[in-house]
Amino acid sequence: MVNPPYYAADSRYDGSMTYERCGRSGIQLPRLSLGLWHNFGDVNTLANSREMLHFAFNNGINCFDLANNYGPSYGSAEETFGVIMKKSFRPYRDEMIITSKAGYDMWPGPYGIGGSRKYLMASLDQSLSRMNLDYVDIFYSHCYDPNTPMEETLQALVDIVRQGKALYVGISQWPYEASQFAYDYLAAHDTPCLIYQGRYNMIDRQKAQEGIVEQAARNGVGFTAFSPLEQGILTSRYLNGIPEGSRASLGKFLKREQITPELVDKLHRLNDIAAARGQSLTQMSLAWLLKDNTVTSVIIGSSSVDQIRDSLGCLSNITFTPEELQAIDSILC
Ligand SMILES: NC(=O)c1ccc[n+]([C@@H]2O[C@H](COP(=O)([O-])OP(=O)(O)OC[C@H]3O[C@@H](n4cnc5c(N)ncnc54)[C@H](OP(=O)(O)O)[C@@H]3O)[C@@H](O)[C@H]2O)c1
Repeated sequence: MVNPPYYAADSRYDGSMTYERCGRSGIQLPRLSLGLWHNFGDVNTLANSREMLHFAFNNGINCFDLANNYGPSYGSAEETFGVIMKKSFRPYRDEMIITSKAGYDMWPGPYGIGGSRKYLMASLDQSLSRMNLDYVDIFYSHCYDPNTPMEETLQALVDIVRQGKALYVGISQWPYEASQFAYDYLAAHDTPCLIYQGRYNMIDRQKAQEGIVEQAARNGVGFTAFSPLEQGILTSRYLNGIPEGSRASLGKFLKREQITPELVDKLHRLNDIAAARGQSLTQMSLAWLLKDNTVTSVIIGSSSVDQIRDSLGCLSNITFTPEELQAIDSILC
């Protein structure tokens, strides 16, 4: 049977989704964005990817986070997104924030990795073609490259905006000092940095501890948190063992050995706090990030529509009592 045409839900902006201004820009981002790092590659079924993307957009998640090498195989998450763009999302393009990135390894040889102008420019052209897009909304330097002068990487970002291939730029996982250089350079070249993307969740608080979250706010730059669920650890996924097909069972980016009895014990205790708040552990973990408006958006990953539905539920309660925060800290810190 042929798939019926996609019509976005009329209620997509009437539900629980809220939008937060991104730094000092004119852009508002949904508090939850959807990332395509896992589960959207050519090893996954197109039907599930399509369902998740449709469900997300129908529920106000209008920001989709991609990178050149998401898959596997590299490039295939962008290709999947390109299929959905062509078949479903095209009429809604102007309602969406679509991102891509380059920095980590993508193709063989010295021009398929790093922060060079050559790599960034070529990679974005390839990403646009895979995604069936004329431009991305945000193009990121995916990581800091100590072997490329920062001016070269940053000027490439400026020129990409001037070419009209990206509307805004961001940096991801850059260290504190380099980030300040980037904010100053980009502002001085009329391309203010829109957003910093960093790893941040209840377990991994390094970005806050290093002052990077606060630095972004001080510079009028938004902050978006990736791996907000510590790749699924901060959910109910591993409370009763390691399910087949879960990220830990696949063992590439999350290893079985990381799911220790001590960790599972902590997760059960966190789950009790979540239950007392009337939330799932997933919802409390996301709410913990969203309680501060210095975190513009959190980028969730997902392997099913049910997981996205669960995550969306966090938005009904993103405030914590001091006692709740202290109880969480006493388990994790
Ligand atoms: N800039 C960077 O360097 C960088 C690095 C990493 C990620 N990112 C971005 O951040 C996005 C999110 O990263 P992430 O995938 O690590 O995020 P995450 O939200 O921490 O983990 C997502 C995983 O958690 C599990 N999960 C999600 N919701 C659940 C629920 N309700 N119940 C049970 N389990 C649930 C699923 O695991 P299963 O698959 O096991 O079901 C899902 O794949 C990426 O897609 C990417 O866009 C950026």
